[in-house]
Amino acid sequence: MTPSGAPRGRLAIFPGSFDPLTNGHVDIILRSAHLFERIVVAVLLNAEKKSLFTSDERVAIIREVFKEYPNVEADTFDGLLVEYARQRRASAIVRGLRAVSDFEYEFQMALMNRHLEPTLETVFMMPAEQYTYLSSRLIKEVFQLGGEVRGLVPPAVERWMSQKQGAGVRG
Ligand code: PNS
Repeated sequence: MTPSGAPRGRLAIFPGSFDPLTNGHVDIILRSAHLFERIVVAVLLNAEKKSLFTSDERVAIIREVFKEYPNVEADTFDGLLVEYARQRRASAIVRGLRAVSDFEYEFQMALMNRHLEPTLETVFMMPAEQYTYLSSRLIKEVFQLGGEVRGLVPPAVERWMSQKQGAGVRG
C-alpha cells in the first residue's frame, strides 16, 4: 500500500550493470517475471571506462533477449536506486544470490535501501545451479582473453560480443 492507502502495482526492479547480461541474469529475470506483474531490468548508467557495452547497447540487448516477454522491460537509471524505484512506483527490488559470498554485500545493500525507503522490499532469488558460478566480470575476462563464452550468455549477447570482436574491441 502507498501512504495514501492505494495498492501499488506489483512491479519489481532488477537493477544491475549487466555488462554483459548472463544466463544467470536471464534465469532470475524469468523467475521474477512469473512472480511479478512487471519486471524492469534497470541498467545502472555509469561512465565506467572498462565496460564492454555502453548502457544503450545493454538496454538494446535486454530488449532483444526478452522481446517475447511483454512484462519484461529494459530501462536505465542513475543516482539512488530507491529514488528510481519510487519514480517507477515499484514494490520490490529483485537481486540474485549465487553463493554465500554474495550475501554480505547484498545484505548491506538491502538494509541500506530499506533504511532509505522502508516500504520497498528486496527479494532475493537463487538462479539454477548451473549458473551459480557465472558473473559478468568473469565472462568479460574470459572473452577478453580469447576464451569461449557459448552457453554462458544468451545467443544474442554472444552475437553482440562477436561484433565487438570483429570491430577489434574486446573491452
Ligand atoms: O550488477 P551490480 O554491479 O551488482 O549492481 C549493483 C547496483 C546497480 C544494484 C548498485 O550498485 C546500485 O543500486 N547502485 C545505485 C546507487 C545506489 O542506490 N546506491 C546505494 C545502494 S545501497
